[in-house]
Amino acid sequence: MHKPLIRPIQLGQKLFESNLIQAPLAGVSCAPFREMIWQFGGLAYCATEMVSAKTLLLRRPPKRYLYKGQNEGPLCFQLSGDNPDELRRAVDIALANGADVIDLNCGCPMPKVRHKNCGSKLLSNSHKLYQLVSALRKATDKPLSIKIRVDGDSGDQCNTDVVKAINDGGADFLIVHGRHWTDDYETSVRYDEIAKIVEASNIPVIGNGDVKDYPSLQKLMATGCVGAMIGRGSVGRPWLFAELQAADQGRVFTSPTAVQVGEIFLAHISKLIALENESRALLQGRQFSKYYARAAKLNADVCHKFYQVKSLDELRALISDNFRMS
Ligand SMILES: Cc1cc2nc3c(=O)[nH]c(=O)nc-3n(C[C@H](O)[C@H](O)[C@H](O)COP(=O)(O)O)c2cc1C
Repeated sequence: MHKPLIRPIQLGQKLFESNLIQAPLAGVSCAPFREMIWQFGGLAYCATEMVSAKTLLLRRPPKRYLYKGQNEGPLCFQLSGDNPDELRRAVDIALANGADVIDLNCGCPMPKVRHKNCGSKLLSNSHKLYQLVSALRKATDKPLSIKIRVDGDSGDQCNTDVVKAINDGGADFLIVHGRHWTDDYETSVRYDEIAKIVEASNIPVIGNGDVKDYPSLQKLMATGCVGAMIGRGSVGRPWLFAELQAADQGRVFTSPTAVQVGEIFLAHISKLIALENESRALLQGRQFSKYYARAAKLNADVCHKFYQVKSLDELRALISDNFRMS
């Protein structure tokens, strides 16, 4: 008999209705994107883009990082930092702005983040990591997660220490992206290394990497992880979580038509304009055109047209001309 992969999950003190999670995606997972995801549901929570504790502690942090939309479900604030006191104070701000979960980024490979001893740099300093996790634990009773990457072929042998630091520091669960911080996205997900972390951890492990359909979800869950975090798979396809749920329950899922995908694209960018301003939102919106075009099964050539768009009205017209029944 088919054993369901998708089920409610207890993370820390909170019971979530699904074990699927929307990943933090810099430049993408602000409130408008998350509201599109919640229109379809099927997940436990969405994560914000990574925001440094220092940025949240500014007198006037950019609204994009703090704003939680009215139509959102549970939200995780993903923080980066290397200073326990700053992280503690950043948690207070996140909680005041509606955080339901707190996560510490220990996977970001960007040089500007690593140079500040944050992100994936923390994976090679388990003592510091333990201090940060303990500080975050003292700052909140809400579910606390730490998002890491695997060892890869680095020979660091750091994962055992890292997993111990995170467990001992009092985190409620671990999220593991199955790539080393030096891997690019073409490198295959290292399922065997996720499985090793599952084995080594006393707290629940959420797997992450390359889930885009039901077979890839099955592959990830075969590592023994208790849930899955999805990043790029749901960009332009906010219904992916609902689609996976239907597949898990043996139900037929009807994907939105090209016209409906166009409406979602337009609603997404309109909300982005309300949050930021028109030119910035349209600039960011360019990157979404290829995802929405792919979801609507349009020819990829259409994307270059979206790069020329200068106003919401132009975008509306372009969408109505191109996102049509074939
Ligand atoms: C555009 C982009 C932005 C990302 N931003 C973040 C981030 O802010 N914080 C983080 O922990 N991971 C970030 N990631 C990594 C994702 O959360 C995720 O771990 C990775 O994409 C693998 O999952 P996927 O194969 O489902 O996309 C980012 C990835 C991409 C492609």
